[in-house]
Amino acid sequence: MNRNDILREMGLGPVWKLRAPPSQAAAEDVAAVAAIAVEPPPGVAPAVVPVAQAAAMDWDQLVATVAACRQCRLGETRKQAVLGVGDRNADWLFVGEGPGAEEDERGEPFVGQAGKLLDNMLAAIGLKRGEDVYIANAVKCRPPENRTPAPEEAAACRPWLERQIELIRPKLIVALGRPAAQTLLQSEIKIAAARGKLHDYRGIPVIVTYHPAYLLRTLPDKARAWEDLCFMRRTMQARKGG
Ligand code: URA
Repeated sequence: MNRNDILREMGLGPVWKLRAPPSQAAAEDVAAVAAIAVEPPPGVAPAVVPVAQAAAMDWDQLVATVAACRQCRLGETRKQAVLGVGDRNADWLFVGEGPGAEEDERGEPFVGQAGKLLDNMLAAIGLKRGEDVYIANAVKCRPPENRTPAPEEAAACRPWLERQIELIRPKLIVALGRPAAQTLLQSEIKIAAARGKLHDYRGIPVIVTYHPAYLLRTLPDKARAWEDLCFMRRTMQARKGG
């Protein structure tokens, strides 16, 4: 009789063994912590989707997963998740902060007052929503009372934005406001200092400018926003080789 047999006879089994060396077990723990709880489609049992799976999702999977996401508390109060809108092969990607009340209602980013100004900004450099332009947000669910998303909310949502960027493969990303810039660049940002420079997101140039909602409140900075738009247009022309 070996040790396990004796323990079983004593009613002390089973004896648990590590299935993997400690380093692999630790990695599995990390992966488990980084798992995303999502609501399943009707009739399907609740599931946990590892964050790593986001990197392999196609558009349909991403849309369905984000629509059901419960990774952070914003999922409890939103009406619907707002993934993004526009040309999925766009050269231009604009990233805002998060949906507001109207976006939460309609399921499309930037459809309120700030959205009208964004459309005007796009028109000023010859662009149009949906035509070579994709618009997304750092967080996909409305923060209550339109507050700034908390760092943990932005972090929870980041895999979805990352996957969007991988799928779109834009030539230029424009960060609208500080939360978007900080999410993309993963560093503390001050808009005044970050404007007018080319930043980098995994090899894609990023330009930081004011959020349209801020510009609605702060008219004098519209002139600076115009400079930023011209900088964006020059940068895109250079990226396209002309
Ligand atoms: N502000 C944002 O940052 N995003 C929206 O979609 C709407 C307003």
